[in-house]
Amino acid sequence: MITLDQKQALVQKAILAQQNAYAPYSEYKVGATLLTKSGKTFSGANVENAVYPLTICAERSAVVNAVSAGEQDFEAMAVVTRDGGSPCGGCRQVMAEFGVDMLVLIADDSGHIHHELTVEQLLPHSFNAKNLQSSS
Ligand code: THU
Repeated sequence: MITLDQKQALVQKAILAQQNAYAPYSEYKVGATLLTKSGKTFSGANVENAVYPLTICAERSAVVNAVSAGEQDFEAMAVVTRDGGSPCGGCRQVMAEFGVDMLVLIADDSGHIHHELTVEQLLPHSFNAKNLQSSS
């Protein structure tokens, strides 16, 4: 569980990350900040490419940043867009890889939190690592 203060601080960090987004094609800037269970934060922004499918979303950018630093236990993620847009399906799948209990704060860049949902709520009945561990 995280406090309201922690949630607001996480959203503020995601707003800062959003400002670093590289989105010349869509002009839709996204920022994401992960809070680890150990209390560290890792941010990411969307990074677009002239070859459009090579674009990386903010949420995946934050996950890659955290995992590259040795962190895999996540408490929460704030996702910030201009309109409180939801994480895409691909990002939901990447979040699920590291646990479906993580809280996702979906906010806009004025700091207003539109939704607070777990990854399980965002992606019910996901295919995940457990499926690959079963013997049958
Ligand atoms: N985008 C994200 O960063 N995260 C999402 O979950 C949805 C979409 C980015 C990708 C692209 O740079 C822009 O938003 C428009 O799709």
